[in-house]
Amino acid sequence: MTPKEEIEQLRKELERHNYNYYVLNKPTVSDYDFDQMMYRLQDLETFYPQYADVNSPTQRVGSDLNQAFTSVPHKYPMLSLANTYSEEEVREFYERVKEGLGGEEFDICAEMKYDGLSISLTYIDGVLTQAVTRGDGVRGDDVTANVRTIKSIPLRLREGSGYPHEFEIRGEILMPWTSFEKLNEERAKREETLFANPRNAASGTLKSQSSRVVAERGLDAYLYYLLGDEIPADGCHYENLQKASEWGFKISQGMKKCKTLDEVLEYIRHWDVERKNLPVATDGIVLKVNSLRQQRHLGYTAKSPRWAIAYKFKAERVCTRLNEVTYQVGRTGAVTPVANMNPVQLAGTVVKRASLHNADVMEELDLHIGDMVYVEKGGEIIPKVVGVDKEQRQEGAEKVQFIRICPECGAELVRFEGEAAHYCPNDSSCPPQIKGRIEHFISRKAMNIESLGPETVDDYYQRGLIHDVADLYTLDVAQICGYNRNRVKSAQKVVDGVASTRNVPFERVVFAIGIRFVGETTAKLIARYFKSMDVLRNATVEQLLEVDGVGKVIAESVVKFFQDPKNAEIVDKLANYGLQMRLSDEQLAGQTDKLAGKSVVISGVFSKHSRDEYKAMIEQHGGKNVGSISKKTTFVLAGENMGPAKLEKAEKLGVQIVSEDEFLEMIV
Ligand code: IVH
Repeated sequence: MTPKEEIEQLRKELERHNYNYYVLNKPTVSDYDFDQMMYRLQDLETFYPQYADVNSPTQRVGSDLNQAFTSVPHKYPMLSLANTYSEEEVREFYERVKEGLGGEEFDICAEMKYDGLSISLTYIDGVLTQAVTRGDGVRGDDVTANVRTIKSIPLRLREGSGYPHEFEIRGEILMPWTSFEKLNEERAKREETLFANPRNAASGTLKSQSSRVVAERGLDAYLYYLLGDEIPADGCHYENLQKASEWGFKISQGMKKCKTLDEVLEYIRHWDVERKNLPVATDGIVLKVNSLRQQRHLGYTAKSPRWAIAYKFKAERVCTRLNEVTYQVGRTGAVTPVANMNPVQLAGTVVKRASLHNADVMEELDLHIGDMVYVEKGGEIIPKVVGVDKEQRQEGAEKVQFIRICPECGAELVRFEGEAAHYCPNDSSCPPQIKGRIEHFISRKAMNIESLGPETVDDYYQRGLIHDVADLYTLDVAQICGYNRNRVKSAQKVVDGVASTRNVPFERVVFAIGIRFVGETTAKLIARYFKSMDVLRNATVEQLLEVDGVGKVIAESVVKFFQDPKNAEIVDKLANYGLQMRLSDEQLAGQTDKLAGKSVVISGVFSKHSRDEYKAMIEQHGGKNVGSISKKTTFVLAGENMGPAKLEKAEKLGVQIVSEDEFLEMIV
C-alpha cells in the first residue's frame, strides 16, 4: 500500500468510527484502537504534507488561528417559525392547514424543537464546504472552521449513500447538558462568569476566535431541514431526513408522522415529559406539513412558513411563600434585590432564592411579605419570580419597598438616569465594594496573585490590614501572622505573590485598577495607545474616542475614574510601589508602523518563532492579524505545510505569500 492509499484508508475508517460513535451512539471500536489509528494518520500527514486535507479527521482538533468571521449571504433565507403556547392554538394551525389544502389529506411531521443556535451547512460532492450562522436570516457569519470541530457533523458523507451533488442542510448546534455543567464548573473554579444556559454557552463557543476552544467544549448538532435545487420537488420532509441520516447526519430525535390532530396532541403531551431525559435542551415541538408539494402550496408569510409552527413548552412553575427580600451589593455598588422563599423543588433542584433584578421588576410584581409567589425555571438556570397569587394574600400584609439606604454601609442609594439599577455611591468605604475591587485586582487576568483569594481578602479586611489595593503592598509577614505563628509560610507566599506583580505588564495594570466598563481587551487598547499611565490619566474624552474600539460610555468612565482624587491617590501609590506604569522598553522599542494598514494571515508551522510571537510582531508593527484570506488580505505569512486550500485561495485572489525569513526582513 502506498502512503497515499494508507492515508485514505485510515481517513475512511476513522470517519466510519466517528459516525458510529457520535451520530449512532454505538461505537464498534475501543478508544485505544481509535486513538492508535488517529496517531498513525497524524504521523503520515506530518510526513507527507502534500496529502494534507482540511476535511481529514485529524483536523477536528481545531487551531489557535485568530479568525475574524466573514459575513456571507444565505442562498435561501433562514426564516423563523411562528410560536404557539396552547393546544388551542395548535388546533387552529391544524384547521388553517386543512382549509389551505382544500380538504386534501396531509401528514404532519412532529419533531423536537432544539434550543441552541441554528446553522446552515453546505455540501458539495459529499464534502462540507461551508457553515453559516443564521445572522439576520439574510446574511450570517461563516463559522466553517469552528463547525469542523463538531464531531457529529460529517466532514465527508458516507460513500455510495446517494447524496445529491450539492445541497444545504439546516439544524441546531447545541451544548449537551453534561458538557454545559462541566464547562460551568471549570469557569466557577476560575471565578469566571457562568453561562446562564446551554444556548448561550453554545453560541459563545461557536463564536470563539479559536477553533481549538470549540473542539474542547463538546458541542453537538441535530439536523432538521434539507433544501437545495436537487432535492426532489415531489418528496416529503420526513423521508428526506431519513435519507440524510443514511448519508451520515444526526437528525432530529423521535420524529413522527402524524395523520390526525389527536396524534399530534398526544406527541406533544408525551414529549413534554419525556424531553427531560434527552441529552440536550429543547423548548418545544415543531410541526411541519410533510409533503413538499403541499408546503409550497401553503407558502410563507413575510416572516415564517404557513406550513410549520412551533409549540413552546411551558416553563416549569411552582408556588411558594415569600419570606423576605434581601439586597446584594456588588463590586460596582449595584444593588440587587433577592427573594428569599420557602424551599421548593423545581426542575430538578431545590430553590429558595431568586433574583428580582431591580426596583422596577419588584414594583411590577407588587410583592407583599408572606405572599405566595410563582417561581419559574425556563431556559435559564437561575429561577425567576414571575407573579403573585393575590387571592392568598393575608390581610394587612406589608408591601415590599425597595430600600433607600445601602444594607452594607448605610449610605443613601442613588439611581442614574436611564439605568434600572440603584447604586451605593459610597465606593470608598462600603465593604463589598472595597473587597470586590481588591478581588478584581488580584484575579487571574489582572495581577494574578494566586496566594490570595476572596477569603483571605475578607480576613485581612476584617482585621483592618487592607482598605484598598495599594495596601496590599504594605503587608508584611508579621502583620499577616499576628499571633499565629503557623501562618508564616503562607504569609510569606502572599508577600512574595504581591511583590511579583511588579513585573505584570502595564496593560494588565490598567485592567486591574478597575475602571468601570474597561475590560481586558479595552485595557489593552488604551494602554497601547496612550503608552503610559501619566498620559492616560490626563486624556480627554475626545482623545479616548480616538482609540479604535473605545466608545462614549468607556471614554467618559475613564475620565471620571481619574478625576476622583481617591483613585488618583491609589494610582500614585501603586506607581511608588514599583508597578509597571508604562509600556516596557521592548514594547516601545519594537513599536513601528512598518505594517500599518496591512492585514496579515498566519498559516503553517514556523521554526524561528512561535505563531503567537509572530502575531505579537504583526501588532507591534502596526499591522492586523486576521483569520481568513480575502481580497483585503495584504499577505500571508506562510510557514511549512501551509494548507492546500489556503494556498489555492491566496493564489486565486492574488494575495502575496511571504516566508518566515522574508517577514523578519520586512520588520528590521
Ligand atoms: S425548522 C422554515 N425544525 O427554531 C423553518 N427549526 O423560530 C425552518 N429550531 O430558527 C426551521 N428545532 O433555529 C426547525 N426541529 C426544528 C427546530 C427548529 C429548533 C429553531 C431554528 C429556527 C427556530 C424557529
